[in-house]
Amino acid sequence: MEKLMIAGGSPLKGTVRISGAKNSAVALIPATILAESPVTIEGLPDISDVHILKGIMEELGGSVSFSDSDMTIDPTSMISMPMPNGKVKKLRASYYLMGAMLGRFKKAVIGLPGGCHLGPRPIDQHIKGFEALGAQVTNEQGAIYLRADELRGARIYLDVVSVGATINIMLAAVRAKGRTIIENAAKEPEIIDVATLLTNMGAKIKGAGTDVIRIDGVDRLDGCRHTIIPDRIEAGTYIIIGAAVGDGILIDNVIPQHLESLIAKLREMGVHIESSGDQVFVSSNPDLKPVDIKTLVYPGFPTDLQQPFTSLLTKTNGTSMVTDTIYSARFKHIDELRRMNATIKVEGRSAIINGPVHLQGARVKASDLRAGAALVIAGLMADGITEVTGIEHIDRGYGQLVEKLKGLGASIWREGMTQEEYEQIKNG
Ligand code: EPU
Repeated sequence: MEKLMIAGGSPLKGTVRISGAKNSAVALIPATILAESPVTIEGLPDISDVHILKGIMEELGGSVSFSDSDMTIDPTSMISMPMPNGKVKKLRASYYLMGAMLGRFKKAVIGLPGGCHLGPRPIDQHIKGFEALGAQVTNEQGAIYLRADELRGARIYLDVVSVGATINIMLAAVRAKGRTIIENAAKEPEIIDVATLLTNMGAKIKGAGTDVIRIDGVDRLDGCRHTIIPDRIEAGTYIIIGAAVGDGILIDNVIPQHLESLIAKLREMGVHIESSGDQVFVSSNPDLKPVDIKTLVYPGFPTDLQQPFTSLLTKTNGTSMVTDTIYSARFKHIDELRRMNATIKVEGRSAIINGPVHLQGARVKASDLRAGAALVIAGLMADGITEVTGIEHIDRGYGQLVEKLKGLGASIWREGMTQEEYEQIKNG
């Protein structure tokens, strides 16, 4: 068990390169199950979610090679192995195995996924989609059993705009007979990325990135090469770091159009930010204005950046409000920020942040991935040493975090925990 140590308070400068998108990667890898020859995905991030999925592909009988961020998966010999327990429980996105295995094998058994605890995270819309396609779905002792004699295209209206349900239904529908129409689909860039891979494999998909997606099922999908999109949430996190403590940070390998809502808010606050091509340049400003944000589905302000953004808001001159309309309980970082001297109160789905405060280093615990990012940003802003535990959450989604921040001049390192510290953390 390790913890992150951050000696904060100094400005950062230099260039940081963004990795491939985690939330694409966790769908692209299961999508390869649908092919009947090898698929290569280029530019995958070096994060634990990707390593766990590699193991799952191997358990299914796939042969996988992974080097220099490129993964080649040969799914030819895969079988529909039941996976009620084990690795599938370690990441929420293992729900994509349901759509992909249903598409290829017409059956699957997948343990209900784990992942970050951000409030209720049902998968009823995924199941509604699979049932509309003709699958029988049951929940037995915490595992979802799916079976279909044949998948048939259907018109599916999502009651909730869901990234996961949109992708999962797409994964099954590419191998259904006839046409599937997904209405009220999510529009996130990761959905377009998955549709691009599937199209390169031979699928017929129109409208990905809009709220109506049309899929004409095909009999067979084959291997291809695909380059993943850059991680807009990792990029957004480094942009926020630049706004908080940057003395000129260049973020490289980013699609600025994916982050328009964040960039517009930062401009409103008075942050110096410019974008050109696939780069964004950002510098802090000592006199930041408070702003309110409300998280929304894409292209609105992403819920995944709400927690990191809250750390930045502690240094603005006045009161800001952050409202999360996507997850009701994504506020576990607030208590930890308070330990660092932040003045924040939570009311319902909103956090009210009073600034400016000068954050002080403290012992804090990351309860989930983006809470971890928020605490790292706070640690970089704070005077003194911040110790962040729970870094297994951060490792799920930020590849080479320490190396990237050191490259910008940050004083950050990993340290082993003593047994006593470990017991303290374990017992809350
Ligand atoms: N929802 C339902 N029923 C469903 C599915 C979703 O009610 O069947 C609700 C959820 O409870 C939530 C909302 O709909 O309130 C949106 O959930 P969505 O399905 O879009 O989320 P997801 O697909 O499970 C992905 C990302 C999350 C990100 C959300 C929202 C992946 C693997 N995860 O989750 O990323 O917060 O979309 O953009 O793509 C993260 O990266 O830290 C992360 C949590």
